[in-house]
Amino acid sequence: MTLQIRRLSHALGAEIGGIDIRKPLDDKTFSEIHTTFLEHHILLFRGQPLTRAQHVAFSRRFGELYADEARGKMEFREIYVNRTEVNSNPAEIVGESWHSDLHHKVVPAMASLLRGVEIPEVGGDTLFANMYLAYESLSDGMKKLIEGLYAIHPRLITAKNARAGEDLNNPPSPVAHPLVRVHPETGRKALYVGEECKYLAGMTENESKPLIQFLWQHAIRPQFVYRHVWRKDDLLVWDNRCLMHRAVGDYDRAYVRQTERTIVRGTPSGYVYDGPPQ
Ligand code: SIN
Repeated sequence: MTLQIRRLSHALGAEIGGIDIRKPLDDKTFSEIHTTFLEHHILLFRGQPLTRAQHVAFSRRFGELYADEARGKMEFREIYVNRTEVNSNPAEIVGESWHSDLHHKVVPAMASLLRGVEIPEVGGDTLFANMYLAYESLSDGMKKLIEGLYAIHPRLITAKNARAGEDLNNPPSPVAHPLVRVHPETGRKALYVGEECKYLAGMTENESKPLIQFLWQHAIRPQFVYRHVWRKDDLLVWDNRCLMHRAVGDYDRAYVRQTERTIVRGTPSGYVYDGPPQ
């Protein structure tokens, strides 16, 4: 099988054509897909009307999946549905701050596989930032300053999380992750910080804020960003170890928007941070 590979932007992303991922893939083809994933950090497969079983089966080629234990023995516990209904509140969008998936866990996400199930006529795009480029474009002085620092990643309890049973008043302990992570497969260094991080381990919020804000805002400069304009039956696969992303809530609430995601487990990176904000 010959894969057709087309870059999506200068910063990141590649579309892979000439393949039907609903069918089982031989190891050689998957190895080519995986190499393209490490090189371009986002893969786009257009026109893939996957069933949930096919979505899970393709995702498993990348590794072990997170499953929502709260859903007991339900089918497809690995699929997280992100749906906004007609007339939903435009202020309530899942994933509207810059983040890397499951950054609030000691073992954060390696990859996410997100499928466009129902897509508004216009808008509702997803933005991605290349954290390798963000790190590599820092001055040597800044690289030296941030080496060895840990940022505190909280579990942000949104209204949707609260409706799903999470306790707004009793969030889990946050997790400290290195600000600079070494990608376990490529060996390249990438920034690991997001909009929800408010302080650095061992520093006060006031002391931490200017540095944290500088870093994530530096990372989302247009030259490091790809904006994905969704079509129904797109499947995007991205590498959370070197990217941040956010959803954009700019669509008409006369439309439903539904995406469905699986998450591949990464490797341990941080530790539970029990200290109070300094
Ligand atoms: C998310 O951050 O998981 C949401 C992505 C999207 O639906 O665009």
